[in-house]
Amino acid sequence: MSTVDKKYLLTTRQMATFVAQGFLRFDEFIPHDLNQAILAEFDAGVPSHAYGTPLSACYPEPSAVGRMLRRPEVQGIIQSLVGPDSLFDHHAIHIRQPREATAQGMHGDAIIDTRMAFDIQFMYFPHDVPLEMGGTLVVPGSHFRRINEMNIARYQNFIGQVPVVCKAGTLLVLHHGIWHCGRRNQTDRVRYMYKIRLNPTVRQLRLWNTDDLNDPDNNVANILGHAEPWFEDATGRLEIVNRIKQWRFLTGDDKFDVNYWLTRVENTPERVLA
Ligand SMILES: [Fe+2]
Repeated sequence: MSTVDKKYLLTTRQMATFVAQGFLRFDEFIPHDLNQAILAEFDAGVPSHAYGTPLSACYPEPSAVGRMLRRPEVQGIIQSLVGPDSLFDHHAIHIRQPREATAQGMHGDAIIDTRMAFDIQFMYFPHDVPLEMGGTLVVPGSHFRRINEMNIARYQNFIGQVPVVCKAGTLLVLHHGIWHCGRRNQTDRVRYMYKIRLNPTVRQLRLWNTDDLNDPDNNVANILGHAEPWFEDATGRLEIVNRIKQWRFLTGDDKFDVNYWLTRVENTPERVLA
């Protein structure tokens, strides 16, 4: 895949928000005619690819899904997070029938994946999703809280959860660890959601548009220090320390900190008094 023009790359503030929340949301991002073409393609079936196929080799023309992923606005997101030569991991077209008896339990996979490197998942909503259609539910800031798949499925609702109620063409990009589920569709219409997981092939170091990296107005420490409503009573220090580590990994700045939290626990003096 060719490198996308810088103007399509994410900003530092968007990257910090991704690190803090575990996802970014782009409402009505894909144009209507392409949404319609993709919906038609879903009904016909979208051929999959082998794990680890370069994304650039996937969905050849005239694939409408391929056209969506090759849009420079989408490539800008991909290249900012996982670089220009990302790999196809897997995809799925999630279909939820009208008034199905059950919905999907809340889940995540972080317990087996303790990397600092991360995969991304796109969730693409080709048609309007009103609240009664269920949509996808995500828990902001949950991506570093390690759980084993469906172990949390007995919980139905979380303080601070975000139901993806959106217009057609909305795209979410998620850190692989985020807690999420598909909710029950209580309408008479079928609900579709396409997801694709992508792996990086390069070190995820300053891949976004870093022109504004040192702009104090970004207030990265503030974004990374933001507590989600589900955090434990005090401050959510565990999550914030994990965000600091991720930000250091992404920027290469080993001194970055929020409120001295990581620096303090890294202090193991070696100097022996004479
Ligand atoms: Fe899932």
